[in-house]
Amino acid sequence: MASAEARKVAVITGASSGIGAETAVTLAKAGYNLSITGRDEAALEAVKQECVAACKDHKIEVVITVGDITKEEVAKKIVDNTIAKFDRLDALVNAAGILVGGGAAKLPISDYDKQFDVNVRSMIIITQACIPHLIKTQGSIVNVSSIAGICSFAGATYYCMSKAAVDMFTKCLALELAPKQVRVNAVNPGVIRTNVHKRAGMNEEEYKQFLEHSKTTHALGRVGEADEVAKAIAFLAGADSSFTTGVLLPIDGGRGIMAPR
Ligand SMILES: NC(=O)c1ccc[n+]([C@@H]2O[C@H](COP(=O)([O-])OP(=O)(O)OC[C@H]3O[C@@H](n4cnc5c(N)ncnc54)[C@H](OP(=O)(O)O)[C@@H]3O)[C@@H](O)[C@H]2O)c1
Repeated sequence: MASAEARKVAVITGASSGIGAETAVTLAKAGYNLSITGRDEAALEAVKQECVAACKDHKIEVVITVGDITKEEVAKKIVDNTIAKFDRLDALVNAAGILVGGGAAKLPISDYDKQFDVNVRSMIIITQACIPHLIKTQGSIVNVSSIAGICSFAGATYYCMSKAAVDMFTKCLALELAPKQVRVNAVNPGVIRTNVHKRAGMNEEEYKQFLEHSKTTHALGRVGEADEVAKAIAFLAGADSSFTTGVLLPIDGGRGIMAPR
C-alpha cells in the first residue's frame, strides 16, 4: 500500500453511478487519491463516503467536481481541481457515458449528436486536458468502451458507432503517447447491471426482461456486475499492466465470441 505522500491520483468521470462509482471504490481500496465527477452531487458525495469507508487500513482523499462533462469548461475545472488538490495525476478513467437506443433509419441526427457529444467528444476533451499531467507521471488512461464497439447490434446504431470511435481513439492515442510512456487501454463490457439502460428509457419490467434475455446472449449465462469491470479497470490503470497498451479488453461473459449456429 502506498504511503500518503506517494499516493497515486486518479480522475474518474461518470463516478456518480454504475461502473465509474465502483471503479472509485476499487481504486480507493488500492490506495489512490481520487478526483471524481458527474452531474449528480448527492450521488458523488455518497460515492465519496463509500470510498473513504472502504479504506480501513489507509486514509485517502477525494475531490468532487460537479458538472456536465460535455462542457469544455467543466473538463478544465475537473483537471484544475485535481492538480490544485493533489499536484499530480497518474490515471484517467473515462467512464461517463449514455446509451441512445434505436436504429439509424429512424433516429434523428440530433440523437447522433447527443450520443457522440457525451461518449466521444467529451472523452477527447478531458483526455487532452489530462495528457500533460499524465506525461509527467508516465501514467495511464482507461476508456470505458463496450462490446458494442466491437460487435454490431441492431437497434443501437449510434451507440455502437460511438463505442467503435472510442476503441479507435484508444488504439491511436496509445501509439501517440507510447513514446512518452503513457499507456492507453479500454475495457469493453457486455451487459452490466447499472443505471444506463433504465436511463435510456427502459422501465422496470422491460429491464427485468432484458436482464433475463441477456442470460442467453452471454456465454457465461448471466449479466455482469460493475465490480467485475472495475477490477479490470484497476488492472489496466496501474503498474500490474505496465507492458500493456492499446488493448481493448472485453469484460463480457463471452458475449463477443458468440455467433449464431
Ligand atoms: N451497463 C452496461 O451494460 C454497459 C455495457 C458496456 C459499456 N457501458 C459503458 O459504461 C460506462 C458507464 O456506464 P454505466 O453502465 O455505469 O451507466 P450509469 O450507471 O448510467 O452511469 C453513467 C455515468 O455517466 C455520467 N454521465 C452521463 N452523462 C453525463 C454528462 N453529460 N456529464 C457528466 N456525467 C455524465 C453519469 O453521471 P451523472 O448522472 O451524475 O451526470 C453517471 O455517473 C458508459 O460509457 C457505458 O456506455 C455500460
